[in-house]
Amino acid sequence: MMSDNGYYGQYGGSYIPEILYTSQQQVQQAFDEARNDPAFIQALEQQWQQYSGRPTPLTFCANLTEHFGGAQIYLKREDLNHSGAHKMNNVIGQGLLVKRMGKKRVIAETGAGQHGIATALVAARLGLECTIYMGAKDVARQYPNVFWMRQLGATVIPVTTGSQTLRDALDEALRDWSGSYADSHYLIGTSCGCAPFPEMVSFFQSVIGREVRQQSLAQFGALPDRLYACVGGGSNACGLFLPFMDEAQVEKVGVEAGGKGMALGEHSIRLSHDLGQPGIAQGFASIFLQDDQGQLQETHSIAAGLDYVGVSPIIAHLAEQGQLRMTYASDQEVVDACTLLLKKEGIIPALESSHALAAAFREAGTLSPQQRIVINLSGRGDKDIFNVARAVQDAEFPQFLRSYLSEYPDNLQLASDAGQGRAV
Ligand SMILES: Cc1ncc(COP(=O)(O)O)c(C=O)c1O
Repeated sequence: MMSDNGYYGQYGGSYIPEILYTSQQQVQQAFDEARNDPAFIQALEQQWQQYSGRPTPLTFCANLTEHFGGAQIYLKREDLNHSGAHKMNNVIGQGLLVKRMGKKRVIAETGAGQHGIATALVAARLGLECTIYMGAKDVARQYPNVFWMRQLGATVIPVTTGSQTLRDALDEALRDWSGSYADSHYLIGTSCGCAPFPEMVSFFQSVIGREVRQQSLAQFGALPDRLYACVGGGSNACGLFLPFMDEAQVEKVGVEAGGKGMALGEHSIRLSHDLGQPGIAQGFASIFLQDDQGQLQETHSIAAGLDYVGVSPIIAHLAEQGQLRMTYASDQEVVDACTLLLKKEGIIPALESSHALAAAFREAGTLSPQQRIVINLSGRGDKDIFNVARAVQDAEFPQFLRSYLSEYPDNLQLASDAGQGRAV
C-alpha cells in the first residue's frame, strides 16, 4: 500500500520533534532506495530463508474443519519463524537497512518481549549494538524474555515512569533516538509510528500475504474466501491483508482484544464499535483509546502484544473505507480457542494469534464447505505458558512454580507467599 506523502486518508503522517527530522528523512530515503534495489531484496530473502526459515507453511486443519462443519480451515504458520513470531520478518528487514545506512546501533521498545527478542537476535547476527526499553512492570511480568535479550548481548533498560508499560517505554526509546540518531536507528516493531514506519513495516510483513497467495493457488487452486488476523499495532494484519487489497471478494477480518469487558481500561478495542477516537500521539495520527480531554487510556488484554492504545494508520484507514471488517474476541473466547487448537490440531498458538482463531471459529460454521478461510497464526504460545496455565486453572502449575522457587534459597519466603495466594 503506498501512502500519500505518509498519509492514509486522514491517518499517518509524521509528528516528531524537530531534532529527529533529518534522521526520519534519512530512514525514508534509505527505505525508498532499498525497496527498489534488487541486491537488497535478494539479501533480505536470503536471511528470511536461511535464518528465519521462510517460507512458512499453509497448514490445512482437517480436524477443525470437521469440528465446525463449515468452511475449510487453513493456518498461515508464522509461529514457525525463528523466534516464534512474524516479528522476525520486519526486524530482519530493518536490520539490513541499518547496515545500509552505515549505523551501528539499534534502539527498540517492547511490551511482551517478542519484538525485543527478535531485535536482540538480529542485532547479534548483524553485529549491531542493541538497547531495549521495557516498562518496569513488563520486565517483571516477562522476565524470561528479558533474560534472553541480555544473554544475546542487548542492554535492557526498565522504564519506571508513568504506567511503567509499553507506552512509557516508547517515550524513552524516542528520547534516546533524539540524542543518538547519528549512529542509531529506532527499530519500530509494528506498523505504527511516524512515516515511513507504517509503510516500511507493512512492506516487510507483506511476505506473509504474498506467500498465502502462492500457496493457496498451489494447494487448492484458488484464493481464500476470507482472511483473519489479530490486530495489536497492526503489522501481521497488514502483512496478510495488503497483498489481497485488489481482491474485494477476499474478505479481510481484523480482530482486536475484547479483554474482560466493554468499560474503558478493560479492553483494547479501538476500531470495532467506534470505541476509539481520532487523535495524534506517539508520532502519528490514528485512532486511539482516549478520554474527552484526549488523554490516552489504560488498556487490557490477556495477550500482551495486543494491549496497545493506538492502531496502525493503515488499518484505521482501511477499516474506515470498509475494506476490512473489524471485530473483537474476549479473553475467555481466546483461551477457549487456544485450547481447541491445542486439542484438535496439535499446535500451540500465541494468545495474540488466538484472537484471530476465536473470531474465525465463531464464523466458520456459518460458511459453506466449499469456502476456505486462512487464519494468520502470528506466533507460537510457549511464551504464554504462565497465563494459559492460570486461565485453565491448572492445579499442578503452582506446585511446579513453588518447587522451582524453592531451589533459590533466598526466595523461599516468596514461594510460601505465593502458596497463600498473594501476588508474586
Ligand atoms: C505473536 C504476536 N502476534 C501479534 C502481535 C501483535 O502485533 P501486530 O498487530 O503488530 O501484528 C504480537 C505483538 O507482540 C505478537 O507477539
